[in-house]
Amino acid sequence: MADTITLENLYERAVQRLDDAGIKSARLDARLILMKSLNISHTNFITEIKVLSFSAVNLRVAQENLDKRCEGMPVSRIFNEREFWGLPFYINEHCLDPRPDTETLIEAVVTAFASKRREALRFVDFGVGSGCILLSLLREFPNAYGVAVDISYEALKVTQKNADLLGVADRINFVCSDWDSALRVRGEDQFDVVVSNPPYIESQMIPKLEREVIHFDPMLALDGGISGLNPYKILVPKLKFLLKSSGRAFFEIGKGQESDVQRLVEKTDATLNGLYRDIAGIIRVVDISCGDK
Ligand SMILES: C[S@@+](CC[C@H](N)C(=O)[O-])C[C@H]1O[C@@H](n2cnc3c(N)ncnc32)[C@H](O)[C@@H]1O
Repeated sequence: MADTITLENLYERAVQRLDDAGIKSARLDARLILMKSLNISHTNFITEIKVLSFSAVNLRVAQENLDKRCEGMPVSRIFNEREFWGLPFYINEHCLDPRPDTETLIEAVVTAFASKRREALRFVDFGVGSGCILLSLLREFPNAYGVAVDISYEALKVTQKNADLLGVADRINFVCSDWDSALRVRGEDQFDVVVSNPPYIESQMIPKLEREVIHFDPMLALDGGISGLNPYKILVPKLKFLLKSSGRAFFEIGKGQESDVQRLVEKTDATLNGLYRDIAGIIRVVDISCGDK
């Protein structure tokens, strides 16, 4: 009979391996990798940890996935999935791994448009990636319609797949283009809500990023140019054409970029309505409008 090992022993060994490899979240990651690889529910993992046992053959997939984590691959990349705003998103190497900080942007829009929840609002997301922002909003606003813009065709395929999985594909259109030339709109084509989480990392900081980011997130999703502000310099001046007079734009920003973005807003004669902080207390989202002051 093949040797067997209990889940408890396996878990402790997995934690040790990840710890030795310098993984900060070794316990959490070991549990997630074992649960997923061995098809064990969270409850069973807790209640049957001393009872469940596995043969060496069955453990191969778990070992391979632990190897990947030791090499720096995030758990979300190993299993091609990430939960965002309580929803399951498929991800792959062509899109940014959605960050919890970005949920601040969803909160901001949901709060600002709470009284219009049932209206046929028009949303546009510049740099839609996995679709985490736009699709979460389409789930929150059941009669809204969205335009998904990304320069990466492969990223838009991920958005499409998630739109199908989340049941909102009939309320979304796709534009594969750079944001400068993506949309030229007037009148009734204008939007109620413009959202974007553009690449905002300063080019020279990119080599200093953690290996989980630099090796696994696409460069197109990270590099915001020398100042990190290139996308805002393009997007902010477009708002006066894109937004309805009652419309609002919500942009995610990097830590400490609020004053620079505020200056860009003032230069275009738009209004900064507010700033929203993420759960770490960092200013993460700016809320802009272009209606009458
Ligand atoms: C930081 S990621 C955000 C992805 C997703 N919205 C999120 O919050 O996880 C930025 C996205 O912008 C796209 N992008 C980068 N440069 C662009 C450009 N010039 N025009 C349009 N999209 C661009 C990238 O392909 C990437 O999907």
